[in-house]
Amino acid sequence: MQVTVIGLGPMGHAMAAAYLDKGYDVTVWNRTPAKAAALVARGARLAPGVAAALKAGDLVVMSLTDYDAVHAILEQAPEALAGRTVANLTSDTPERARAEAAWIAAHGGVQLTGGVQTPPPGIGTPGAETYYSGDAAALEAHRAALEVLTGIDYLGEDPGLAALYYQIGMDMFWTGLTGYLHGQALASAHGIPAEKFLEQAVKTMNFEYFARFYAPRIDAGDHAGDVDTVTMAVASLEHVVHTAEAAGLDTGVPRAVLETFRRAHAAGHGGDSLTRLTETLKE
Ligand SMILES: NC(=O)c1ccc[n+]([C@@H]2O[C@H](COP(=O)([O-])OP(=O)(O)OC[C@H]3O[C@@H](n4cnc5c(N)ncnc54)[C@H](OP(=O)(O)O)[C@@H]3O)[C@@H](O)[C@H]2O)c1
Repeated sequence: MQVTVIGLGPMGHAMAAAYLDKGYDVTVWNRTPAKAAALVARGARLAPGVAAALKAGDLVVMSLTDYDAVHAILEQAPEALAGRTVANLTSDTPERARAEAAWIAAHGGVQLTGGVQTPPPGIGTPGAETYYSGDAAALEAHRAALEVLTGIDYLGEDPGLAALYYQIGMDMFWTGLTGYLHGQALASAHGIPAEKFLEQAVKTMNFEYFARFYAPRIDAGDHAGDVDTVTMAVASLEHVVHTAEAAGLDTGVPRAVLETFRRAHAAGHGGDSLTRLTETLKE
């Protein structure tokens, strides 16, 4: 029931608070110590330095802006990594996750890479999940403590995998959410408030039907245009661009999508399904 949390941005703060809620003995460290005040008031211990934070317990949870921040912190006390499991719940590329795992291993520690799929208010609530990858034995040894934060979706031994799955999710999240914001900007330009369009937005943004329909076809390389075509997408996107233009909106986002479909069309795939883009994007 002992844990160290390094990094007290909104996410690390929520994590340390979740451990305090469950009665853990919590040590925290942050570059800006003032951010620990509310946690210390609740019983957390503020370590005087990185070495003391690492040595306080077997499990060290890190939630920082990126791996540059992680490394800038850990290189202050590499000798204190021996025997520690670092649950590195920091977003960055798979390559950086692998490199940091190797560096931590060279100093006698173990990195479990994590990709948290919930915003800070979701920490400690049912249904929240984190991708993990890395040493399975370390994960099992610390399962109970990690499950205080979120459920565990373990992907395998490669420390880059959790970062890869997380970035795939972020690719979908950022373009999808920008789609929502762009569409709502169009609605707002026509005097339709976000709360009025909410139910229509929720239905439109639910892509489950499409993902389930397309996934087996993508895997089979089957891009038959029996239900939708690239030609149709080009025409539809031109209507979107013209409607957004008429409303005085910046059209950079739908134009970028339109150009991608036009590329598939120009390559002779006008009659293919929208799934053809999974190939066009590699060309
Ligand atoms: N917030 C979300 O909704 C959310 C959701 C899922 C996943 N995540 C991921 O969780 C991680 C943390 O999220 P967050 O919202 O808490 O991010 P954040 O606000 O960017 O994290 C800030 C933390 O990183 C530290 N930091 C940054 N650069 C540093 C450096 N060079 N040296 C030492 N410390 C440094 C900050 O220290 P100071 O306080 O001293 O500045 C602070 O503790 C990120 O990787 C993020 O992508 C976030």
